[in-house]
Amino acid sequence: MIIEPRMRGFICLTAHPDGCAQNVKNQIEYVKSKGAINGPKKVLVIGASTGFGLASRIAAAYGSDAATIGVFFEKAPSAGKTASPGWYNSAAFEKEAHAAGLYAKSVNGDAFSKEIKAETLALIKADLGQVDLVIYSLASPVRKHPDTEVLHRSTLKPIGGTYTNKTVDFHTGNVTEISIEPATEEDIANTVAVMGGEDWAMWIDALKTENLLANGATTVAYSYIGPALTEPVYRKGTIGRAKDDLEATAFTIADKLKDIDGKAYVSVNKALVTQASSAIPVIPLYISLLYKIMKEDGIHEGTIEQIQRLYAERLYTGGEVPVDEKGRIRIDDLEMREDVQAKVAKLWEEATTETLPAIGDLPGYRSDFLSLFGFEIDKVDYQKDANEVVEIESLA
Ligand code: NAD
Ligand code: NA
Repeated sequence: MIIEPRMRGFICLTAHPDGCAQNVKNQIEYVKSKGAINGPKKVLVIGASTGFGLASRIAAAYGSDAATIGVFFEKAPSAGKTASPGWYNSAAFEKEAHAAGLYAKSVNGDAFSKEIKAETLALIKADLGQVDLVIYSLASPVRKHPDTEVLHRSTLKPIGGTYTNKTVDFHTGNVTEISIEPATEEDIANTVAVMGGEDWAMWIDALKTENLLANGATTVAYSYIGPALTEPVYRKGTIGRAKDDLEATAFTIADKLKDIDGKAYVSVNKALVTQASSAIPVIPLYISLLYKIMKEDGIHEGTIEQIQRLYAERLYTGGEVPVDEKGRIRIDDLEMREDVQAKVAKLWEEATTETLPAIGDLPGYRSDFLSLFGFEIDKVDYQKDANEVVEIESLA
C-alpha cells in the first residue's frame, strides 16, 4: 500500500518500512565512513530500536564488528496497520547485519519486567556467553514495577512553582506562551521510578549475578542537561530528578563492578528530535533555534554522529575516559558551547510566530520528526507500493 504520515498531536500513527530501512542504511554508511573503532565486541542495547539506542547498536556493529542483542518495545504490523518505526528499524538493522555476517538478535517486550530480563539473559548465555558493553537507552512514559506491580507514570513538570515560557507547535509554527503547574511529591517519585536508575541497576545486578558481564565490561546510560532557559521544565523539573537519580546510580553500579574491573558511566547527550523529546513542552522551540545555529556553524550532529563520537573519542580511545567534575561523559559539548548558547538565548527573546521562520529551523525540526517515522527520506520512492508486513529475522 501507499503509506503516508498520519499525525495525531505529537505522534505519527503510521511508519514507512522503506524509509526506516533507508534511515538505518544511512546510519550504517556514516559509521563505516568514519573507519574502524577499537570498540566493543559483544553488546547488549536496552532501548535499541530508535533514537540514541539504535545509533548505539549500529555504531557498535559497524564500528567494531560487534555482535548485538537489542531489547525494545515495538508494535508488529497488523491488519491494515503499519508497524511502529522501531520495528521497521530493527528489521532493517538485522537484515543488514546478517547479510554482513554480524550476529544480531532482538527481544521485543517490556524491559522493565522480570520476564524480558530473564529471556534476554538466557539469550546472552546461549549465544554470546558474556557481553562487554551494556547500553541503557530506555525512554518510556510508564513503568510497571516488577516487584510491586504498581504502574508508575512519568510527568514533565516544574518543581516548586508554575513555569511560564514560550513554546511552539512544530506542526503549525505557532509560538505561544505555556504555563505548567508544579509537580506534586507523587509526580516526582513516579518520574524517578520510570526514568531514574533503579531499572538500570536491576539489569546490571541480574547480568552480574549470572556471570554474563565480561571482565572490564562497561555500561552507559544517557542523560541530558541543557540550557538555563529549559531548566525549570527539564533539569530542575521532574525529569531532572530522574536524571539526577540515574547519574547517582552510575556510581553505585561502578562500585558493584569493581571486582570485575567494570565501569559505569552516564553520557550527557545533545538535544535531538526523537519521539520522546518532541512531547516535552518548550524543548521543540529550543531545538529549532539550536539547530539553526549549529547548522550555520557546521557543528550540528544527529544521534549517529553523537554515538560514533562517544565510542571513538570518549569510551574507546585506549586511554582514560574523559569525564566532567561530576564523573559524566559529555558529548553535549558543542550544544553547550558558550557562543552557541549565547546566540540561542538571544534568539529566544526574539522568537514569535512571525519571526520564527527566519530565525529558527522549524523545517529541520519537522523533517527530522517525520524521518523518525521513515518519511521525507531521500532515495525513497513514496509513490511505490510499500509492503508494510516486514519481519524481524530473529523474531520471525
Ligand atoms: P527513543 O524514544 O527514541 O527510544 C526509546 C527506546 O526505548 C526505544 O527503543 C523503545 O522501544 C524503548 N522502550 C521504551 N519503553 C520500553 C519498555 N518498556 N521496554 C523495552 N523497551 C522500551 O528515545 P531517545 O530520545 O533515544 O532516549 C534514550 C535516552 O537518551 C533517554 O534516557 C533520554 O532521556 C536520553 N536523551 C535523549 C535526548 C534527546 O534529546 N532525545 C538527549 C539526551 C539524552
Ligand atoms: Na533509544
